[in-house]
Amino acid sequence: MAFRQYTVGARMFGFALGSSMMITLFFPSIDIRNVQATESALDRQLQNGWDGGFNLTDPLLKGWNKPVKVLLTKDPKTGAAVPPGTYAYVYKAGTWFPSGIIHPVILGEGVSDLTVSKGRVGEADNKAGAVFMLKHATFNGKDYPYIEDVTATQGWMPNDVLNSVPDANISHSGAGMTMFVREGCWWCHTLLPEETQDWQAFGVPPMLGDFNGASPTSFGSDRKAPDLLHVASRNSSREWMMMHFFNPRLVQPHSIMPRFDYLWGDKDASGNTIDFAKWRAEYDAYHEGQRDTPPDVPMPAKNSEIRNLLDFMLSLK
Ligand code: HEC
Repeated sequence: MAFRQYTVGARMFGFALGSSMMITLFFPSIDIRNVQATESALDRQLQNGWDGGFNLTDPLLKGWNKPVKVLLTKDPKTGAAVPPGTYAYVYKAGTWFPSGIIHPVILGEGVSDLTVSKGRVGEADNKAGAVFMLKHATFNGKDYPYIEDVTATQGWMPNDVLNSVPDANISHSGAGMTMFVREGCWWCHTLLPEETQDWQAFGVPPMLGDFNGASPTSFGSDRKAPDLLHVASRNSSREWMMMHFFNPRLVQPHSIMPRFDYLWGDKDASGNTIDFAKWRAEYDAYHEGQRDTPPDVPMPAKNSEIRNLLDFMLSLK
């Protein structure tokens, strides 16, 4: 009798486990190929590159192996004028491509078809480096954004593009996202306004498809401070951001945000050594009322980590 009960139980268990596996395998709620990547998803992955978290190509989270987003002033090959607000995403030789280039199918119907056929991303070679642009075209009568490999279609090489613009037009936002992950900004800030009153303070929540191909997403889980997904839309001042990172109390007297002055490195933009001890002594004197103004914040060097982080913050529109 006891044995019979055991076989009934075993069959019921097998049935439950089997049907749960069938549901998982054959009834997925979303087929990712039916979710079209939005323009903002394409922009996000092209500027952030393959990954911003821990991985073997950047084990110390230094922001290595990242693309840059370049605001073009002219066609780098012919010198012809380009419409204002034209961007190119430059992947120097060896920089890993984001998921949408490696597996275009995840970009969804229409977007992936155009990315492969018109955009020719299959020809992009990460050993040689490549330049990408975001374009629009119609597919089956509908308009879609897609990624174009302009190295294949127009012969633009990474250095042609980089040499055609001043340094201020080059955004290191991809490396900045690595700084965001490494410094634990997500411990206090989210990158995900919710479908609540958040709308009013932090802007529109993302749509389905806005993160297709982005990795990692860095939504954050817990919020002790303002959401940052659209921070540059409410505050696009590089100066303000710079002072706020050097010491948040310079601009928000009661802020609990830590200072990130060490991201400046040793030297400022003119190559002078930054004397942090002197700066803090002067700041303390200001705080105690012995000075009328706080000391000046050093201008960040071109290749400093804070430059990357500032570029990332100002990309969050
Ligand atoms: C201990 C929590 C904490 C951490 C860690 C932290 N912040 Fe903040 N942050 C705050 C708080 C609180 C505010 C609001 C007060 C203020 O402006 O300083 C803020 C404000 C900001 C603002 C201005 C937001 C707005 O709405 O204008 C930016 C930008 C920002 N933080 C970026 C960062 C970045 C980037 C990092 C990581 C390098 C970071 N924060 C780390 C707590 C934190």
